[in-house]
Amino acid sequence: MKITYDEKTRIFRLDCAGMTYAMGVVDEEGFLGHLWFGAQAGEDDLTYLSRTAEFPHVPSVNGRDRGSFLDSFFQEFPGAGVGDYRPCALQIEDENGQAACQLFYDSYRILKGKSILSGLPSTHGGEDEALTLEITMKDPVHGVRVLLFYTIFEGLRAVVRSARVINDGDKPVDVTRLLSCSVDMEDTGYRMLTLDGSWSRERRKELLPLGRGTRSVQSRRGITSHQMHPFVGLLSEHAGQNEGEVYGFQLVYSGCFYAGVDKDQNNALRVQLGILPEEFRERLQPGEELQSPEVLMAYSEEGLGGMTRTFHDLLRGHLMRSPWLHRERPVLINNWEATFFDFDLEKLLGIARRAKKEGVEMLVMDDGWFGKRDDDNSSLGDWTVNEKKLPGGVKRLSEELAAIGMKLGIWFEPEMISPDSDLYRAHPDWALSVDGRTPCRMRNQYVLDLTRKEIRDAVFDQITAVLDSADIAYVKWDMNRPLSDVGSAVKGKSAGSILYHYCLGMYELQERLITRYPELLLENCSGGGARFDAGMLFYSPQIWTSDDTDAIERLKIQEGTAMLYPLSAMGAHVSVSPSQAVGRFVPMTTRGHVALAGTFGYELDINRMPAQDAALIPSQIALYHRYGELIREGDYYRISSWQDNHLNDSYIVVNRDKTQALLFWVQVLGEPNTRSKKIRIPGLDPDKNYRIRIADPAVREDDQSGNFLSHREIEHMSGFLDKTLAGRTLAGAGLLMPKLSGDFRSVLLELLSE
Ligand code: GLA
Repeated sequence: MKITYDEKTRIFRLDCAGMTYAMGVVDEEGFLGHLWFGAQAGEDDLTYLSRTAEFPHVPSVNGRDRGSFLDSFFQEFPGAGVGDYRPCALQIEDENGQAACQLFYDSYRILKGKSILSGLPSTHGGEDEALTLEITMKDPVHGVRVLLFYTIFEGLRAVVRSARVINDGDKPVDVTRLLSCSVDMEDTGYRMLTLDGSWSRERRKELLPLGRGTRSVQSRRGITSHQMHPFVGLLSEHAGQNEGEVYGFQLVYSGCFYAGVDKDQNNALRVQLGILPEEFRERLQPGEELQSPEVLMAYSEEGLGGMTRTFHDLLRGHLMRSPWLHRERPVLINNWEATFFDFDLEKLLGIARRAKKEGVEMLVMDDGWFGKRDDDNSSLGDWTVNEKKLPGGVKRLSEELAAIGMKLGIWFEPEMISPDSDLYRAHPDWALSVDGRTPCRMRNQYVLDLTRKEIRDAVFDQITAVLDSADIAYVKWDMNRPLSDVGSAVKGKSAGSILYHYCLGMYELQERLITRYPELLLENCSGGGARFDAGMLFYSPQIWTSDDTDAIERLKIQEGTAMLYPLSAMGAHVSVSPSQAVGRFVPMTTRGHVALAGTFGYELDINRMPAQDAALIPSQIALYHRYGELIREGDYYRISSWQDNHLNDSYIVVNRDKTQALLFWVQVLGEPNTRSKKIRIPGLDPDKNYRIRIADPAVREDDQSGNFLSHREIEHMSGFLDKTLAGRTLAGAGLLMPKLSGDFRSVLLELLSE
C-alpha cells in the first residue's frame, strides 16, 4: 500500500492490493486530470494517459480551443459553466446568481491513517491500516478552496473519496452541487448495475447497457428510499458473478442522493455519486466549509463477488463501529407480525414465556406501546407508555421478562409526529411544513423538523426517559415515511439546505443515543428497508431488510442487499406460513435457512403456530449458535440466483482460513423429469479436502411438510455426503445438488476441511 507524488511527472498514484488509482497535474494552470483506476499499473510514466499530446492539447499550447480541452479532458473534479459540458462535480453561485467554477491544483498532503468526518458517517483506519491523500484545489475567482480526499486501506482494492469546500473569500457563496466523486473512464462495453425496488421489494438487481447521455438513479425522498439505491456497478462485457472486471460505487449517505453514469461524444464515461444536486443548496459564509459524504469505490477482477467481498471487508473493518459488530446478537422474537397493535402485557408475556422455552433470548415490543396508539393514526411523538396495555409500564415488562430470563427490546419512530398527538397539539410548528400549505400526510403522520436542535433535544429526552426507566437491551429505530413539505418554522434556509441538515440532525441523534448507551443494540429500519445504507451502518450494526418476510421473496431482497452489505447487517426473521406478504406456503426449514443468512430471529405468534413448525425452533436456534460466527465474519460467495435462473438460489459462506464453510441451497421450484443440478463451489482452498455433511440433519420419510429430507433425497447425495472432496474438485467438477420433491425446499451443507 503506498501513495506517491512524482515531482517530475506531477503524477499522484495510490497503489493497493493489486489496484492503482492515478491522477496527473497538467499544463501551467494546473488542471487535475484522471489517469487510471483499475488493475495495478507498472512503475511507468503514466503521463501518456492524459492524452495531452493529441488535439486539442492543453490551453497553453492551443488556447483557441480551450473549450475542446475542457470538454474532453478526464477531469478529476470537474467544475461548471466554463467549457466542460458534461455533468459537473461542483457548482457555485455568487451573490448575484452568477454560476461558474473551475478548480486548479494547489498542493497536497499524504497522511497516515484515516480519521472519521465530523457529523457525517464515514470510514476510519489506524496509521498502519490506511493512507490518505489530500489534494488542495482552488477556484481563484470565488476564492474557494476544495480539498479532495482519497483513502486506501491495507489489503483492499478500494478507494474512499470525498470533497470539502471552504469559503476563503470575503463574500458568501451558494454551493448548489457538491458531489462526492467523479470518475472519468473509457467505455469498453460496460453494463450498469443498479439496485431498485419498492416497499417490500427492496434492492432487486437491474443490469442494462449504457447508452449515450446520462443514466442515473436518485432519491428525492429525504431518505435513501425503497425505490432506488445509492449504488452503481459497472460490469465489463464478460463479467459475471465470479469472473471479469467490475467497479462498484456506493455512497455513505442516507438522504437525497444521485448516482449516475454519463456517456459522452467520445465514448467516455463519467461516474458520479453524491447528494442529489437538484434538492441541495447550501450557503457558505466567509470562513465556512462544507464536507461531502464519502463514496466507497471498489475494483474487482473477480466479478461481482470480488466487489461484494471488498465492500463487506471495508464496511466491517473500517466503517461499522458498534461493539455488537463481532458479537453474537441475541435471538429475538418480535411481536409485530404476531399481534400488530393488538397486544397487552399478558399477551407479550405469553409469547415470551413460550419463546424462552424454545431458546429465544429477547422479546422486541414493536409499534403500539405508547400514547393511545391502537392503530397507526395517532401518538407518534408521545413516547409515554400506554398503561392500559402495559400496567406498570416498560419497567414492569422488563422485570417480568428478566424473571423468565429474557431481554427486552423496544420500537421507536423518533423522527415523526402524528397530527393526533399531544406533541403536535403543543407544537404544531415542529412538523416540517411550507407556509400556507397543509403538510401531506403519509401513514397519517408528519415529519419532525430535525434541523432544529430544540426539537432533537425534546425527542432525545423522551427516548432516554423510557430507556432509563427499564432494562432495555435493544432499540428498533423506525422511519416510516419520506419527507415532503420541506420547510421550517425557523426561516432563512432553502429546502435543499433543510433536506441536508435533516439528515445531519438524524445522524446527530443516533450518535447521541449510542454514545449514551454504548451497549445498546440498535437496529435501524425504515418501512422495512428504505434506509438500508452504509451511512446508517455507521450507527447501527444491523438494519431491518424488508417488511416482506416471505422466505422466497427474501431470497431476492437478500441477494441485492448482501451484494453490498455484510450478512451480519441484514435483519432477517422467520415468520408465518402462508406469509402475510404474498400468502405463500413455505416449509419452516426453508424459512429458518433463509433467516439464518442474516441476524436471526422470529416474528410470529409462537403460541398459535403449527406444532410441527414450533418443534423445529430449538434446532434452528442451535444452527444459529453453531454457525453465527461463520456467517458474521466469513466471506460470502454467491453461486446461483433465482432472479436469473427462476429455479434455485445458492450461496456459500467460507471462514477466513478456509477450513469451514456453510452452503445454502434453496430449490425454489421443482421441475419434472430433470436430474441433479451441478453447482461449482467458489471460495474454498483448492488444496484442502473438505468433508461434506448435512448441517441440519433431520430426515423423515413420508413427510408432507417439506421440512425434512427423505431417504431418497439423501441417497442422491450419497456420492459426496460424509466423504471428502478437494477444494479444487468442488471448484471445478462441482457438486450435484439433488432434485428435491416440491417447491421452496432447502438444504444446508457444512464443509469442514480435514
Ligand atoms: C414498519 C416496520 C415494521 C413495523 C412497523 C410498525 O413498517 O418496517 O417492521 O415495525 O413499521 O408500525
